[in-house]
Amino acid sequence: MSLTFLLFCIFIFLIIFLVVYARWNYNKLDNLGFPVVKPSFILGSDPQGYKKVQHLEDYERFQKYGDIYGFFEGRNPQVHVCDPEMIRLILVKDGHHFKERQKTDFGNPVTNEVLDWQHEEKWRFLRSVITPNFASHRIRDMSECLRELSEEFTSELKSKSFGDKITMDFRSFVGSLITKTIEKCYCGIRLENRVDPGHTFDILMKKLISEFSGYDIKHELVRAFPFLIKWHPTIPSEPIAVFRQLVLNLIKDRQSQHTEKINLQYNFTDTLIDLLSKAQAPQYQHLKITENNAVALALEFFLATFDSVSTPIVFMAYYLASNPSVQEKVLQEIDSVLEKCDGEAELGFQAVQEMPYLQACFQEALRLAPPFFKVERKCTKDWEYKGYKISAGVNVIIPVWATNRHPKYYENPDEFIPERWLQSGDKDKSNNAYAFCTFGHGPKNCVGQRWAYEMGKIIMANFMTTFTFEMKEDTKVQFKPGSSFILKFEPIYLDIVRRG
Ligand code: HEM
Repeated sequence: MSLTFLLFCIFIFLIIFLVVYARWNYNKLDNLGFPVVKPSFILGSDPQGYKKVQHLEDYERFQKYGDIYGFFEGRNPQVHVCDPEMIRLILVKDGHHFKERQKTDFGNPVTNEVLDWQHEEKWRFLRSVITPNFASHRIRDMSECLRELSEEFTSELKSKSFGDKITMDFRSFVGSLITKTIEKCYCGIRLENRVDPGHTFDILMKKLISEFSGYDIKHELVRAFPFLIKWHPTIPSEPIAVFRQLVLNLIKDRQSQHTEKINLQYNFTDTLIDLLSKAQAPQYQHLKITENNAVALALEFFLATFDSVSTPIVFMAYYLASNPSVQEKVLQEIDSVLEKCDGEAELGFQAVQEMPYLQACFQEALRLAPPFFKVERKCTKDWEYKGYKISAGVNVIIPVWATNRHPKYYENPDEFIPERWLQSGDKDKSNNAYAFCTFGHGPKNCVGQRWAYEMGKIIMANFMTTFTFEMKEDTKVQFKPGSSFILKFEPIYLDIVRRG
């Protein structure tokens, strides 16, 4: 046998092996009681998904296939579920069948430690350490800090010399305000000069977000051949290394302040210190908690605050601009709270509790523009419901964008109608809590949910004491393709108008 022939045989064998490997799971969703989006030759059900806007694709598939359908993400079998009753069972009642999320290899030792993807025991420990950050008294303290910053930022914009109005991508305003919130409320320290030259904190955050959810042809290949992750980590190591150093320095500085017994208000850096010290206890040592866990927690907190919270705020501004009568009602509500205090009210934690219409507007923006458009669980024990079967090992995906627009549960689902969230308004037909999946549900739901609501309301209430939003002729919303779970969109330019 010639060497050329031998090499040719090896090559053919390799190709056959790779094809069989990529297609290995393609029969795993057969005859389980729901339709399946047919997989392509080797790249799963949507080989060109990276070129498309994923949440809009989810919506189309929901309209075509219904409440439950099978899908292959690369070689990974998934069941997509948009039915609120099934969502309730999966996330809450039968949660013991869906205990974890699919362990994801990001190809980086920090991102591999992100809370969401840890095994049950480690997740439980980490979650118990971070939960006290969102106790009522902590939210009150952070709200006070945010109120001061919101007032400051609003006054600063007011003092700028422009006429009646200025055109702006509101996200840049909200982004800077939230960056300061992270600095002041979470770290108690300015972060500006703490990142290497060339990396201001918000540039670093933007880079991490775009890498985190990035999705291109290489990701598509990794989904078909997961072992390729070694050569194509989901997130390049450079920005993570910068972030890691930043967090470790924060911890070190804070520890030395503790040693010097400076009287400090508890903040998120203290949680990271608590985590590292608790993990030393004999009963937790087997969990192998390291500095990377602390960095991964900081990464998740900072990114969720920086990106996820600003998305619904920006969309709320857009929806108010396009619905002037709704905006008028919000303004009246804010003014009436201010009037009760002769205009001296501080629009913080307490004051926004008296603004149910503002809350309803924020909730409606969260419904229509969920910052994460996928909630996922892994089936760990076979499950069956009304003839539908989900087997252990299969991933369950809740397409949030589609579920939040389910026509059975929302009248005129694409319209911005805050009244649907008010006790006194025209309630939705079913009022099914599980038709709103923006924060997930059950024990693994978003731990920062309450704080996210406070942030949205406090930022908007303070801003709207002084400004309103108007559409420009060319204002439009354009979503970006190439994101696997974070809602990405081009800047939305609005006119910001001074109130008389
Ligand atoms: C509007 C803003 C936000 C949205 C829409 C949002 C949404 C979500 C969603 C959908 C999940 C997964 C839930 C599930 O699987 O059931 C999640 C998890 C999480 N969120 Fe948020 N989030 C937001 C803000 C925040 C903030 C401000 C923080 C922290 C400061 C935060 C921290 C977390 C953490 C740590 C998890 C993982 C929970 C776990 O696995 O136990 N989120 N979030």
